Amino acid sequence: MVIKNINLETVCGITSVLPENDKPEIAFAGKSNVGKSSLINALMNRKSYARISATPGKTQTINFYTINEEMYLVDLPGYGYAKVSEQEKIQWGKLIERYLHTSKQLKAVFLLIDIRHDPSANDKMMYQWILDQGYQPIIIATKLDKIKRSQVQKHIKMLKTGLQLVPGTKVIPFSSQTKQGRDEIWELIETEYLG
Ligand code: GTP
Ligand code: MG
Repeated sequence: MVIKNINLETVCGITSVLPENDKPEIAFAGKSNVGKSSLINALMNRKSYARISATPGKTQTINFYTINEEMYLVDLPGYGYAKVSEQEKIQWGKLIERYLHTSKQLKAVFLLIDIRHDPSANDKMMYQWILDQGYQPIIIATKLDKIKRSQVQKHIKMLKTGLQLVPGTKVIPFSSQTKQGRDEIWELIETEYLG
């Protein structure tokens, strides 16, 4: 994808009405701090257009980024952030569920998992939620630069077993530092979900 222009078009909080867009949407889900906003920046060729933070819980809204006025990248709030209240967690969960359930333009959901860690109970729940809404999530194993190359296959296997992935599910290792995996993700989006 050649990025000509980008724009943060819509920001939705827990009480917002979700937009009824007329262009395809691609969403990114995952635990807080897993690297969703960093991935979106990498896809947009920007350093910090999507706000990133070393402190988990940065993205607390659903953010819709238009790309070339042609499609949307959708940054979902991270789950599993310990410091927010139970009430807030439930409301974010409801917001994500409402979005997955009602969007008419959502074409694909990417689920991000830190390549270093075994999937958590929340990751498993999120994976199931996405499946239940009729989407076959693509898994992105983030922070690839944090492990040795010789360890990659082992970690991918751990992730497949941990999430009990449906056979044939794509797993793409990615690093926002080296940008490894970026082109593959765009290629997949363009060939499978756009146009
Ligand atoms: P929330 O908005 O809290 O849900 O987090 P997020 O999933 O959007 O994570 P974000 O992109 O803000 O990244 C969290 C932290 O991880 C930041 O300090 C990033 O710099 C770092 N990070 C993200 N991706 C990578 C990566 O591929 N490699 C390394 N080494 N660090 C990364
Ligand atoms: Mg974020």
